[in-house]
Amino acid sequence: MADARGQVTTTIAPEADGRVILRQGTFPTSVAVGEGLLPRLALITGLDSPPFIVADEITGPLFADFLGRRRGLFNLPRGEGAKSLDSLSAIYTSLAAAGVDRSGPVVALGGGVVGDTAGLAAATWMRGVPLIQCPTTLLAQVDSAIGGKTAVNLPEGKNLVGAFHPAQWVLSDVECLRSQSDEDFRQGLAEAVKYGLGEEWSFFDWLEENARSALRRSLPVLGTLVAECSRMKLAVCAEDERETGGVRARLNLGHTVGHALEAASGYRWRHGDGVAAGMMVASRLSLRRGLLREEDFSRLDRLLTTLRIPHRVDMAWEEIAPFVARDKKFRSGAPLMVLPRSDERCALLSVSLDELREACAESAGGKL
Ligand SMILES: NC(=O)c1ccc[n+]([C@@H]2O[C@H](COP(=O)([O-])OP(=O)(O)OC[C@H]3O[C@@H](n4cnc5c(N)ncnc54)[C@H](O)[C@@H]3O)[C@@H](O)[C@H]2O)c1
Ligand SMILES: [Zn+2]
Repeated sequence: MADARGQVTTTIAPEADGRVILRQGTFPTSVAVGEGLLPRLALITGLDSPPFIVADEITGPLFADFLGRRRGLFNLPRGEGAKSLDSLSAIYTSLAAAGVDRSGPVVALGGGVVGDTAGLAAATWMRGVPLIQCPTTLLAQVDSAIGGKTAVNLPEGKNLVGAFHPAQWVLSDVECLRSQSDEDFRQGLAEAVKYGLGEEWSFFDWLEENARSALRRSLPVLGTLVAECSRMKLAVCAEDERETGGVRARLNLGHTVGHALEAASGYRWRHGDGVAAGMMVASRLSLRRGLLREEDFSRLDRLLTTLRIPHRVDMAWEEIAPFVARDKKFRSGAPLMVLPRSDERCALLSVSLDELREACAESAGGKL
């Protein structure tokens, strides 16, 4: 399923034991995807000293012992609240107590909250130590562990303090995904659909064929799903390492309305669910502009339904609009939105607020 249109190529090297290793151009991260990878951390990454592990109160007890010898273990509280300066400070204290020097390495063992917080600790401890991401949620495996963005939140807003610090290795062990709650798991599925709709239609076809097995969490299917999404995310990030070239913006498909739904509902809408509703609104805009065929619009609706991902806007435009206006991607008063296109990769286009209001209203009305 390699994309012939991109100029940079990804190496997918299947190893004898079934794991897949991905590398992309000069991007400094290697990604390993497969089953039973955690116990082989040292072997795969060539670690020569025991790592310091940052996990959370769920992932530490569940998975830390699989990683073998360690220099220390710090378990964050679970949830978004743990992405804070206080957590960062507590991690520094533990790193000092464990005597972690410039050779590190720090392992982030958990979902995006652990990955972002431990990643920022690794970026700043002694001006930066090697980082290995061991993502344990589907969202982290297909998205947050790859690309080098690390951050914590402030009371003033999300991700306001951060750094680019790409992991040397991302080890995505799909066996970890078995213990996720259904609701958490589907947040990652929504991001996977985003890669199909926005990046490669051949992956969208594959998702349609494998949706039920993915929902059942068949490990071989999850292995392919995570490897394909990782390949696409690596390719985008390698083209735009520090998010200055506008290429990474493509990964925001569905996010303008998604973020607005999350914030406007007081986070009753979860991130992936919001992105799914946002993809429907973006697709409706594409449909109206003749960029997307009716048939592809219906396919998206069906796939999200099969995957049991809520995707109908259930709030009035007046409630969502103030949060859309806070979105940073505006050009002369009109939001810039990522719009999907049949047979092609998505594109970043200017959309009028009127168009967006109508598309949201139609989506809220349940009109297909
Ligand atoms: N850095 C990036 O590029 C990037 C991209 C997208 C999202 N993010 C960030 O990621 C975060 C969301 O990540 P998330 O959805 O992984 O949430 P999360 O890290 O909060 O994990 C969700 C819950 O699942 C639990 N959990 C983790 N792995 C588990 C497992 N295998 N089995 C059972 N329970 C498990 C965790 O303890 C937590 O309670 C947000 O803070 C978001 O800002 C970052
Ligand atoms: Zn997202």
